[in-house]
Amino acid sequence: MNGKNPFPVVGYHGAELFCDRVKETGILSRNLMGGQNTTLISLRRMGKTALIHHVFQQILKEKLAYCLYVDLYPTASIRDLTRQLATATMNVLPQRKRIGKKFISFLKSLRPVIKYDPLTGSPEVRFEYATDTDYEVTLSALLNFLNEQETDVCLAFDEFQVVTSYAEGNAEAILRTMIQPLNNIHFIFSGSNRHMMNEIFHDSKRPFFASTRIVSLPAIPSEEYGRFIEDRFNERKRTITSDAIGFIIDWTRRHTYYTQSVCNTIYGSGGKNIDLQSVKVICGEILEEQEKTFLQYRHLLTSNQWQILMAVAKEGRVYKPNAAEFLEKYSLGTPAGVTRALDSLMTKEMIYEESDINGRYYSVYDLFLSRWLERQ
Ligand SMILES: Nc1ncnc2c1ncn2[C@@H]1O[C@H](COP(=O)(O)OP(=O)(O)OP(=O)(O)O)[C@@H](O)[C@H]1O
Ligand SMILES: [Mg+2]
Repeated sequence: MNGKNPFPVVGYHGAELFCDRVKETGILSRNLMGGQNTTLISLRRMGKTALIHHVFQQILKEKLAYCLYVDLYPTASIRDLTRQLATATMNVLPQRKRIGKKFISFLKSLRPVIKYDPLTGSPEVRFEYATDTDYEVTLSALLNFLNEQETDVCLAFDEFQVVTSYAEGNAEAILRTMIQPLNNIHFIFSGSNRHMMNEIFHDSKRPFFASTRIVSLPAIPSEEYGRFIEDRFNERKRTITSDAIGFIIDWTRRHTYYTQSVCNTIYGSGGKNIDLQSVKVICGEILEEQEKTFLQYRHLLTSNQWQILMAVAKEGRVYKPNAAEFLEKYSLGTPAGVTRALDSLMTKEMIYEESDINGRYYSVYDLFLSRWLERQ
């Protein structure tokens, strides 16, 4: 084992450092190879992007299809999406093989401007057309090119909810019309804004209604995550006690990024025998480090919003935010005021709404902020 930290907090680093998701990987692979488009939804930082890369790696290993990953987060129009897709294709199709050569000659017909990233050297494709329609024609041509190859193509559009705010206004309809006839391209539409993703895929008046299989990504089960953490420490000749692991799992609520982040810091601290006490100290230090940022949030919110955020943090999960008991316990004023503040906190993505066996509940989105607020 090398000295690299086995708990990365950005990107995908191969199957060895990827915990569980066996079931979801199976479903996604089966959908992709069976020609079913899939919508992947979860809270932010739960692991959608990593899962897509994990699934693609398995598919690539077996040479079942070409896999294209397109992050729509920085896009604001069909024009941007077209550019991202062309760039992703250029970077993925092997240039020395027939398909790569075919793509290059096809691309030339679209009059691209190709720039090379000065740091990474990888190419970036742009088009400089006069009208929006030109971009739509090019996007359609790109998709059709991919659809006509001998090998199937898996195409992930990550952060798909941004298409609802595209400059075109009717981007969903444009995309749906283009995507529908493509039988050799299999899509993953991934997004974290449950509200917007639901509108896109569950509203019978919207173009993408009922067109995909929905996969939700819950937290990784305690047992799997616990074993994963223990194994990563042990195989690097370190020990961690089971109560220390139990604490990490509870404290981070198995919200993947936060669990990884705590484990990353513990591993990085260099201790050879980790116990509960040392984990608690590290968690405290993580909160202290972020305190300045958390205090700034206070100025960005109204005092009512701040009070409610704190109350939700202290409760962990709030099922009935309008119940007299909750309002009185934290002196929160009227039910209507609380509803308004909660809506605003959800728009700011500081609070999320989820459900469990007890019903719908609210929680603070940023786990570290939640744990910090709890202590105030
Ligand atoms: N199964 C896993 N095992 C280990 N680490 C993981 C796993 N899934 C995700 N991670 C790590 O957790 C972090 C968050 O994951 P990721 O970025 O994939 O989440 P996301 O749902 O795409 O978040 P966002 O909605 O913010 O884009 C990443 O650093 C990733 O490396
Ligand atoms: Mg992501």
